[in-house]
Amino acid sequence: MVSGFSQSTGTPASRQASIWASCTAPGEAINDPDVDAVLLATPGAAHAAQINACLDRGIPVLCEKPLTTDIASAHAIVQKEKALGRQLIQVGFMRRFDAEHVALKNLITSGGLGNPLMVHCTHRNPAVGDHFTSEFMIRDSVVHEVDSARYLLGEELTSVQVIKGAATGIAPNGINDPMLVIFETESGRIVTDEIFARTQVAYEVRTEVVGEKGSALIGLDQNLQVKSSDGRWGGQLAPGFVQRFGAAYETELQRWVDAARTGTIDGPGAWDGFAAVAVCEAGVEALRTGGKVAVRLDGGVSSFHPSARQVIFDADEPEPGITAPDLIGDRP
Ligand SMILES: NC(=O)c1ccc[n+]([C@@H]2O[C@H](COP(=O)([O-])OP(=O)(O)OC[C@H]3O[C@@H](n4cnc5c(N)ncnc54)[C@H](O)[C@@H]3O)[C@@H](O)[C@H]2O)c1
Repeated sequence: MVSGFSQSTGTPASRQASIWASCTAPGEAINDPDVDAVLLATPGAAHAAQINACLDRGIPVLCEKPLTTDIASAHAIVQKEKALGRQLIQVGFMRRFDAEHVALKNLITSGGLGNPLMVHCTHRNPAVGDHFTSEFMIRDSVVHEVDSARYLLGEELTSVQVIKGAATGIAPNGINDPMLVIFETESGRIVTDEIFARTQVAYEVRTEVVGEKGSALIGLDQNLQVKSSDGRWGGQLAPGFVQRFGAAYETELQRWVDAARTGTIDGPGAWDGFAAVAVCEAGVEALRTGGKVAVRLDGGVSSFHPSARQVIFDADEPEPGITAPDLIGDRP
């Protein structure tokens, strides 16, 4: 679905944008001169063409993750936005607007955990369609943990490994569900991610950061704690991502609308989307080969990050890794 947003009058300034239309003819909405900004909630494979159309018009676009489904198109989009000279693309990594994630980020930044050493992520869905293949789970689901790790740790991910264990009996033949994905970061930290899309239970997203001086865990699904006469106690799991992240989607959308009214964005941008696409591309390669696949976002020197330093890989690093196009200086 593509939603176009246009300005309306007589409403509070912070909510002056209104949905113009929701339609399945993306060109029609994006190219309407009355449309000031566009929200793309279409499947990832459709994003590249639709983002390009928004850039051609020079209007802000909030694009659901993933930015695109391949490195080349993501790279081209980063360069095209850069040539325009202003940030128009925001990527729908809504966890950055979730109160628990923000609190965890603040705890890390304030030094409350000491040096963060490891991040353990859990991403479970109760049920998904058969189009959730192993590769799709990496590109479309694990991409969330890629961004969460980058956001929480403030550095890039440099390698990916995918461990395929026993699959749930309800997974279609050949689909590895669940999988354990292991990342390394620039500074050598480890990030683990259990991706399990067919748990038959509930929607569960947990993140634990283990530091030198303590650990912190979010996503416990505590909600209302009930003790019952049959000796059970507990809270209630979120049935889906809408219930779990509803408030984050609203905050993300309102802040994006407010920013779009001034012709810009307020959240993760094209670079964040590109970095996540590149890491997921390496994840798909790791899925295919069974090896550890390196990610070199700019050929070895992470000049895009403020705390940049050269990344030196072990001599026995499995080759070839994923080398994304040279983007030195492209990070806004
Ligand atoms: N941030 C999150 O938590 C979250 C959660 C779910 C989905 N998503 C993302 O949202 C996007 C949509 O996911 P979905 O599961 O709703 O997809 P979907 O397959 O259900 O499609 C969504 C809508 O887009 C329409 N559509 C399909 N192809 C189109 C095209 N080329 N142009 C215009 N419309 C088209 C479909 O008819 C449907 O109405 C994906 O990028 C997905 O990764 C994000």
